[in-house]
Amino acid sequence: MEKPGNCIIVIFGASGDLTSRKLIPALFELKLQQLLPEKFCIVGVSRSEFTNEAFCEKMIKGIRSFSGEKEIPAEQLQSFIDQISYMSMDMASPGDYEKLGKLLTDTDQKFNTGGNWLFYLATPQVMFEIISGHLGSAGLTNQVNGYRRLIIEKPFGHDLESAKTLNRNLLKVLTEDQVYRIDHYLGKETVQNLLVTRFANGIFEPLWNRNYVHHIEITSAESIGVENRGKYYDSTGALRDMVQNHLLQLVSLTAMEPPSSMDSNWIRNEKTKVLQSLRPIKNEEVEKYVIRGQYVASKIRGQPIPGYREEHGVDPDSHTETYVAIKFYIDNWRWGGVPFYIRTGKRLPTNVTEIIIHFKRTPHYLFAREEMSVGSNQLVIRIQPDEGILLKFGMKLPGAGFIVKNVNMDFHYRDLANIRVPSAYERLLYDAMQGDSTLYSRGDTVEAAWSFIDPIQHAWAENPSIKIFGYPAGTWGPEHADDLIEGQNLTWRYPCKNLTDEDLYCEL
Ligand code: BG6
Repeated sequence: MEKPGNCIIVIFGASGDLTSRKLIPALFELKLQQLLPEKFCIVGVSRSEFTNEAFCEKMIKGIRSFSGEKEIPAEQLQSFIDQISYMSMDMASPGDYEKLGKLLTDTDQKFNTGGNWLFYLATPQVMFEIISGHLGSAGLTNQVNGYRRLIIEKPFGHDLESAKTLNRNLLKVLTEDQVYRIDHYLGKETVQNLLVTRFANGIFEPLWNRNYVHHIEITSAESIGVENRGKYYDSTGALRDMVQNHLLQLVSLTAMEPPSSMDSNWIRNEKTKVLQSLRPIKNEEVEKYVIRGQYVASKIRGQPIPGYREEHGVDPDSHTETYVAIKFYIDNWRWGGVPFYIRTGKRLPTNVTEIIIHFKRTPHYLFAREEMSVGSNQLVIRIQPDEGILLKFGMKLPGAGFIVKNVNMDFHYRDLANIRVPSAYERLLYDAMQGDSTLYSRGDTVEAAWSFIDPIQHAWAENPSIKIFGYPAGTWGPEHADDLIEGQNLTWRYPCKNLTDEDLYCEL
């Protein structure tokens, strides 16, 4: 991989957690991999009054705690830190953008960074339009002497209307190809590998359609609760926090048509088409096709775990869902009639994100099977943890007769010797510096995802009678979600089923 062109990265909201936990450690990793530009510097801005030294100290702590390096090479660290500076500013005050412009022009001259500026808004969403508007008014988004790019991170609005407004306002001062919307799932190696699995292998793609696939299941389970994000989460919920973005991105990559080339817009066109083909769930169908749940107090390994409503920052009468499972269809030629099931939740028994392609059974059963289920052949794409791919198929049990047993063919990323898997932020920041937006969400894709989510939100808001099921922390969510899956003997894949109460958290 080549080094990107020279640039300055300007991080707004630089005193926050995202900067010290994710962005700076990822940039430092890029430095270690020799993937930072020759001439490069970082300007952190936020309201807090930091001296340069104090800010750099905080960044060093972030690198030590979150970079994933056991031993930090002192020389590399110092030369990285020498490239960081800090400016305190009021991000809502137009006058401060003049000062910022002056600082960036001076920094450009000093470091020879070629007038290329990448703005990263690590701020609350309410600031996106304010900051981009001021950047535009101060002329800092004009690409006269170098590129100007802006990275923002979800949430992109809280519904279709606000997402459209955000897009409209961004496009007043920037063009679409200057805007990089991060969905960190797209930066995950295994998510990118979905494209390779599907389109670099002759054996899967011919089967990847309604003729051979019985149903598709996507799970993203987390064992953590809402931690210290109760206030944010309570106004968001699992549907908007995880489904609108991460899960629908996985759906679009799983279901998209092969793009004509790896060009960013060709790929994003195909993904967007999938989201535009999602069959909207009607108001009266929401109760049937969308199961929502909220975790209640329980014990895990003997330790009491508070219920969601007892979490800090959460309304004690909250109706916010911490679990959601949805059944839906994609109305297009490839997927007509194939049900998709997706689910996500907090305080489930383990951390796992996986996509399972359940293939149809053979049309005629010659052999007795140990397990009689439709999903005898499954392709399990493990996004995290234990990244890899598992193919389940039937084999003859040695001995008399023809008894078929399901066996596994299993590939683990960890078996690749000497291969370092970069973090999502490394990949995404590198791509933004390279001007490659393939792994970023486009405005119309985000809007298409909201078009699917909005009717569900409306139905919940308008019909308080739609149940929100309680589930004990540490279990797999409401049992009602099992009823979503149609077909004899069919249920979700439970990566750690048959757990005793003692062992609700398991390692995969
Ligand atoms: C974030 C959500 O976008 O993704 C969090 O806001 C969630 O609630 C997180 O925990 C999950 O990301 P990952 O990479 O840990 O699966």
